[in-house]
Amino acid sequence: TSTQATSVSIAGDIKSQLHAGYSHPLSRAWQAERQLTKAMLIYPIFVTDNPDEFTPIPSLPNQNRLGLNQVVPFLQPLVEQGLRSVILFGVPLAPGAKDALGTAADDPEGPVLQAIQLIRRSLPQLYVVVDVCLCEYTSHGHCGILYEDGSLNNAMSVERVSDVAMAYAKAGAHCVAPSDMNDGRIRAIKLKLIEEGISHRVNLMSYAAKFSGCLYGPFRDAAGSCPSFGDRKCYQLPPGGRGLARRAIRRDIDEGADIIMVKPASSYLDIISDAKDIAKDMPVAAYQVSGEYAMIHAGAKAGVFDLKTMAFESTEGILRAGAGIVVSYFTPQFLTWLDA
Ligand code: PBG
Ligand code: ZN
Repeated sequence: TSTQATSVSIAGDIKSQLHAGYSHPLSRAWQAERQLTKAMLIYPIFVTDNPDEFTPIPSLPNQNRLGLNQVVPFLQPLVEQGLRSVILFGVPLAPGAKDALGTAADDPEGPVLQAIQLIRRSLPQLYVVVDVCLCEYTSHGHCGILYEDGSLNNAMSVERVSDVAMAYAKAGAHCVAPSDMNDGRIRAIKLKLIEEGISHRVNLMSYAAKFSGCLYGPFRDAAGSCPSFGDRKCYQLPPGGRGLARRAIRRDIDEGADIIMVKPASSYLDIISDAKDIAKDMPVAAYQVSGEYAMIHAGAKAGVFDLKTMAFESTEGILRAGAGIVVSYFTPQFLTWLDA
């Protein structure tokens, strides 16, 4: 009979019945292994040497370069909204501030060291991550010290980068995050932290799998860190280099990294997944970089999609791939959106 035929066909199709599992907003949320929370977000902040500056960065919508006097007034309301962590970038703009060694990176009067101490003093609940690199401070704009032929002198760069990391750690950074990509810098920083007796309280987050490419443009506008010649292809990873990324992640774990970061995020979700696989027992971070953020803004402005929906969709993709920490320029907006 026709009744039997129907029940047979339903019985045969039981595995095809998925809708019940996501028919309600709550049951939809249950389908995700990780839900975005405020504690997962790290907000990038650009601190410059002109104390009263508050300058919007044209290629990075809603983001600003802040002078020291602006930092606390800017961050205070965000902390009240649930901001847990920032990552600091120094942007010395005074004429003559940059040289071949990136001396300004650990200038005690420079914007980063001052900002670390100021934030620790004034906003003690905030977790302070500090990006460690030389490109914002070198006259040539590269992420290390160069040989005369313009290539990176790895040994000198590691020595310098690890000294800079130590200066930030001693000034009170909870976490130092070297983004320079010189070989062996994680080990050098870890050894210095141990020697100084502060390795138990300073988290070492490695930009382990950091790819070269065209997604850092707005950041380099913001930080004034565009290389004056050449590119970063000989130290940042080639976009197709999945194997290299896996080796870099393993290496940095062996060298003492406490957190592994992948950067950029959305074009490298397989790498985030690899990182979570290799670094099973460690937090994995992903940096949704300036170009990804600017692209989402541009798409929303062009009417391609809704900004908030895309901000969530891209970030949830990053979490699904395996990250538990996201460095995001959307952080202030997420603090509001996550309250709704
Ligand atoms: C410094 C650094 C960069 C970023 C983070 N740290 C720029 C670069 O490597 O050129 C990029 C962040 C972004 O684009 O948002 N080495
Ligand atoms: Zn750099």
